[in-house]
Amino acid sequence: GGAGDPNILVLPEHSRTLGKPVATHPYGQPSQYEANLQRRESPGLTRVGAASVSFTPLQGLFGIITPSGLHFERHHQGWHDIDPSKHRFMINGLVKNPKVYTMDDLMRMPSVSRMHFIECGANTAMEWGNVAVPSVQYSHGMLSCSEFTGVPLSVLLDDCGIDRRRAKVVLAEGADGSSMTRTISIERALDDVIVAWAMNGEMLRPEHGYPLRLVVPGVQGVSWVKWLRRIEVGDQPYATKDEALHYIDAMPDGAFRQYTSIQECKSVITTPSAGQRLQGTGYYNITGLAWSGRGKVKRVDVSVDGGRNWRTARLETPLLSKCLTRFNIDWDWDGTPAVLQSRAIDETGYVQPKINELRAVRGTRSIYHNNAIQSWQVAQSGEVSNVQVY
Ligand code: MTE
Repeated sequence: GGAGDPNILVLPEHSRTLGKPVATHPYGQPSQYEANLQRRESPGLTRVGAASVSFTPLQGLFGIITPSGLHFERHHQGWHDIDPSKHRFMINGLVKNPKVYTMDDLMRMPSVSRMHFIECGANTAMEWGNVAVPSVQYSHGMLSCSEFTGVPLSVLLDDCGIDRRRAKVVLAEGADGSSMTRTISIERALDDVIVAWAMNGEMLRPEHGYPLRLVVPGVQGVSWVKWLRRIEVGDQPYATKDEALHYIDAMPDGAFRQYTSIQECKSVITTPSAGQRLQGTGYYNITGLAWSGRGKVKRVDVSVDGGRNWRTARLETPLLSKCLTRFNIDWDWDGTPAVLQSRAIDETGYVQPKINELRAVRGTRSIYHNNAIQSWQVAQSGEVSNVQVY
């Protein structure tokens, strides 16, 4: 018994009046009660916001699609809102007929729509040496997943008469001040790369490359060149500034590994995660995300005792290649301290490594490509925090 809950017993004011009319917001907005869910910049990470990153709030999202307004941003020299009627896209180099396309030209061609994750090669970078950030938003939030629409790059390369005998790579170039340029192998360029104008059913948002960006499934975000204006077909890697100085892996022997493009299999528990607090003992549905740049996720295991015992989680459908996969598993919390971990395995059989396994091969001075198992510690108080377990 008791007095009952007034929130169900008393008829609220709104159920006795007319609500707001249609198209009050011609472009819809989230509820005012969801205002805390925002992409955020990590304080002190960079000197200027135009060469920085804002992180996706993974802890507050459901399913696998990232709402476009919460898609992480990574710009080397700020973003622009480019007039699509003036934007041009050129293909040159080892092709019979170099061409310049307008947006109208491109959008008249046969298109595809595919769901893929995009992860910055620097995602989880701060955690290489030790625990550094307070939440999954900052540890894993350079990760988003969307449906992208555009024309396959292979169709455009054939349209220009690519010299298939001599072509070994393409160079993608952006129209922003940094002229972001990246070399992509010809095998990949002719496989599943898309020259895309849409994300989640609408034209790209300016922050994500409006009106045109490259989608390179499974590959680190830096190759997904935004404000795409040119593809040059060449016979050897270009070693431009963006690939000679940045996004290279410092190895333990002092050498740097170049062109590490694929985002290896990785996963993270998003709820419960650091910064959250469990409300007492009892049932919790542990849930998170898994992905692999090499294809589909085959299995995700979850441990609640720091990796001593593992149980296999449920994978939610759809299970798509080079796309986020949502997993979940039941957990009855008895109130004692726990360490939550997830471990993903992809269809090639690759198993997500522990942080010490990764460090044994890669050292601790690296910035990029940290796909280690993440640990969240649950204290007796219910408080969840970021820890590293070896
Ligand atoms: N393309 C251009 N032209 N300029 C850039 O600064 N940043 C790259 C890539 N493409 C960048 C770019 C990096 S490092 C990443 S991780 C992704 O875009 C981020 O894409 P997003 O901002 O849509 O999340």
